[in-house]
Amino acid sequence: MYTDFTFSIIKPNAVRTGKTGPILAMINEAGFEIAAMRMVRLTKPQAESFYSVHKGKPFYEGLIDFMTSGPVVVMILRHENAVEQFRKLIGSTDPSKAEPGTIRKLFAVSTQMNAVHGSDSTENAAIEANFFFSGIERFL
Ligand code: RTP
Ligand code: MG
Repeated sequence: MYTDFTFSIIKPNAVRTGKTGPILAMINEAGFEIAAMRMVRLTKPQAESFYSVHKGKPFYEGLIDFMTSGPVVVMILRHENAVEQFRKLIGSTDPSKAEPGTIRKLFAVSTQMNAVHGSDSTENAAIEANFFFSGIERFL
């Protein structure tokens, strides 16, 4: 199995405002290979399960409402050192702190509506990818 992969979501604010294409172009231009991709509308239980690590935090309820507010694009991405490289490409969670040229600097509208998700470890990438693409080995 290919270990250099990560999992990403293009969040509802970016899909809704037509930024899917520009974000995918940046992902490809940065050298990531899109190994699997589809558009889904998260149900509330799916969003709660996906973000269960944040349950109880002040932003949790708003995050669930936001992530279920419209379709998202979920992807498995391949690249050398994918988790770290992808988090570099997306920039800081808070767009006001995101570096110039990052996806969040360009497309986030707030800390909550920050355009994209990127896994924070290979272990979580596998868990998150399997959540949407069962049997991820076939994509890697
Ligand atoms: P992500 O998981 O989406 O890639 O983002 P991240 O690691 O940079 O940030 P994380 O701490 O995991 O938070 C998950 C998502 O929750 C929303 N959030 N809102 N209003 C707030 O203070 C706040 N803090 C986090 C964001 O959508 C963030 O990406
Ligand atoms: Mg996170």
